[in-house]
Amino acid sequence: MAEKRSVQLGTVQETLLLPLYGRARQTRSGRWGLIHDPKAVDMVETLDYDFDRFREGGSAAGSVLRTVMFDAWARAFLRRNPAGTIVEIGAGLNTRFERIDNGTAHWVELDLPDSMALRREFFSESPRRRMAEGSVLGDEWFATVREFPGPYLFVTEGVLFYLDRTEVEHSLRRMAEAFPGARFAFDLCGNRTIDMQHRRGPLRHVDARLAWACENPREFERCGLRLLDSQTILDLPRRVRLPLPLHLAIAVAGPLLARFSPQHSFNLYEAPERRDP
Ligand SMILES: C[S@@+](CC[C@H](N)C(=O)[O-])C[C@H]1O[C@@H](n2cnc3c(N)ncnc32)[C@H](O)[C@@H]1O
Repeated sequence: MAEKRSVQLGTVQETLLLPLYGRARQTRSGRWGLIHDPKAVDMVETLDYDFDRFREGGSAAGSVLRTVMFDAWARAFLRRNPAGTIVEIGAGLNTRFERIDNGTAHWVELDLPDSMALRREFFSESPRRRMAEGSVLGDEWFATVREFPGPYLFVTEGVLFYLDRTEVEHSLRRMAEAFPGARFAFDLCGNRTIDMQHRRGPLRHVDARLAWACENPREFERCGLRLLDSQTILDLPRRVRLPLPLHLAIAVAGPLLARFSPQHSFNLYEAPERRDP
């Protein structure tokens, strides 16, 4: 049997294994799965990590629904901008390039050094694809992004709510100023989501904790962004193709779930174009 690869990750960085596990598990479900991601299955089988602990607590399926929504925005962006650039911030072991690349787009994948070291064991760069070490809270990676052509879509999936909110707002403002006209996709958690994730969700099996809640995605418009679209899991059947049983479950139980379900919003913003003075 091949030797497994060890995992050495910081507290928040370890959370990248949750969506990875979710995608692998959904892929193993075959035609009823939410996603087809054989590379995630390979990575889960290769890593020396106790993934079985994530079986309880929703099996990370929520993170896969989030990925499905972000895939839809990324595909829409590529249809309009086939040679544009998608910047994956906090890329973890996400396989969006493998799943939706169109053969002409450009990709920059950013993460903290330990997460990126793990990523580099499984993914390779190419003339259209670059990996970079850095923090969303810094700006040293802006120069790398500028080496690739606009328009830009910045995808920050499952990352911001682990960080300091004031610093997050500061860096979003800086990105909006540095990349006028760019689009930004990121998710936000309400208070009930945080409570549920910590008490009953897969996060109870790791040390990382969600640091702040946001019930109203418009709050981030003060960072110089315009909210274009905001979705929750309950909106997904209208927006993306889901396996029929899940589609029906959400459609039928939707009104009830809307009252009780925790709020986890998937949001798409745009930075205004720069106006000449
Ligand atoms: C829940 S995982 C999400 C991974 C990936 N986006 C996905 O959906 O599969 C959180 C990711 O955020 C990254 N992260 C944490 N702090 C970060 C920071 N300051 N800057 C950039 N990435 C960060 C972690 O290393 C990890 O890869």
